Amino acid sequence: MKRFRRLRMQDELRNSIKENHLLKSDLITPIFVIEGENIKNATDAMPDLYRYSLDRLEEELTELRDRGLFKILLFGVPDHKDARGTMAYAAEGIVQTAIKQIKAFDARFYIITDICLCQYTDHGHCGILDDLGEVVNDESAKLMAAIALSHVHAGADMVAPSDMMDGRIAAIRERLDAEGFTYIPILSYSLKYCSNYYGPFRAIADSKPQFGSRDHYQMDYHNSRQALEIANEDLAQGADLIMVKPAMLYLDIVKTIRQSISAPVVVYNVSGEYALLLKGIEQGLVNEAIVYETMIGFKRAGADLIITYFSKWLVDKNLVS
Ligand code: PBG
Ligand code: ZN
Repeated sequence: MKRFRRLRMQDELRNSIKENHLLKSDLITPIFVIEGENIKNATDAMPDLYRYSLDRLEEELTELRDRGLFKILLFGVPDHKDARGTMAYAAEGIVQTAIKQIKAFDARFYIITDICLCQYTDHGHCGILDDLGEVVNDESAKLMAAIALSHVHAGADMVAPSDMMDGRIAAIRERLDAEGFTYIPILSYSLKYCSNYYGPFRAIADSKPQFGSRDHYQMDYHNSRQALEIANEDLAQGADLIMVKPAMLYLDIVKTIRQSISAPVVVYNVSGEYALLLKGIEQGLVNEAIVYETMIGFKRAGADLIITYFSKWLVDKNLVS
């Protein structure tokens, strides 16, 4: 019999042979900016996650900077919505304006922007629709390229398309390259499942589809066999980093991808995962170290970076190095 407990018995040794660690630099924090003035409001499901109007955004940026959290994922909540989501690629749109403001406040912020139409369309779908109400692929992919370009023009450091149109990575890469932005990386939401865990996000981003669901374009959670093929296709089209979303139930996908590609893998610990964990802690069902264990689970499965609403919380609880 081998005595495995020999390596576990003393803190000094056990602590020095941990295979995985959680660092501040692993974390990406989502930020929501909303049109209007003097707004800092939240939604029921995520009471401590705020949407900021631009005149109050510095409050959030200061909190992040004080904690040494500099990587952000930016989402916009526009006033005006229409069939083609025109405010998503307007030069003076909410996200484009926010990017400039954030960079002016502190250029150390590394700004990743979510590229999608669902917050900006009146029907709430991630692309534009044909007469039958089906999301049109190729034309929507072209609009993603227009959104990406407008963000990069404003100063975004990385773009992250979440729409799930086929060919969007190539469309974005070509457009950015043609405009001279050859060094802007693309983080593809490659493995984005059609998940019930996005509920709280859709409330805070005001991006719920007005009819139907996203199952014609997001992945079917019954499946895993296509995952590697999709990741490879995105890499071939020019993606630099590959995302798996949601995170907690999808570690099988993370591991498969990690073992087969060399690009960095990013997980998105989504709104429903966050809300459930936080409510469980608040109600005393589980203790707060559960969040750290969850993050380590992501790392153990092979994630390089973690997008999470818990980033400030992890720093405040001293759960991150
Ligand atoms: C937009 C988008 C969504 C999320 C990120 N970008 C929602 C969706 O696809 O409906 C979900 C994030 C979360 O739940 O935290 N396409
Ligand atoms: Zn969308």
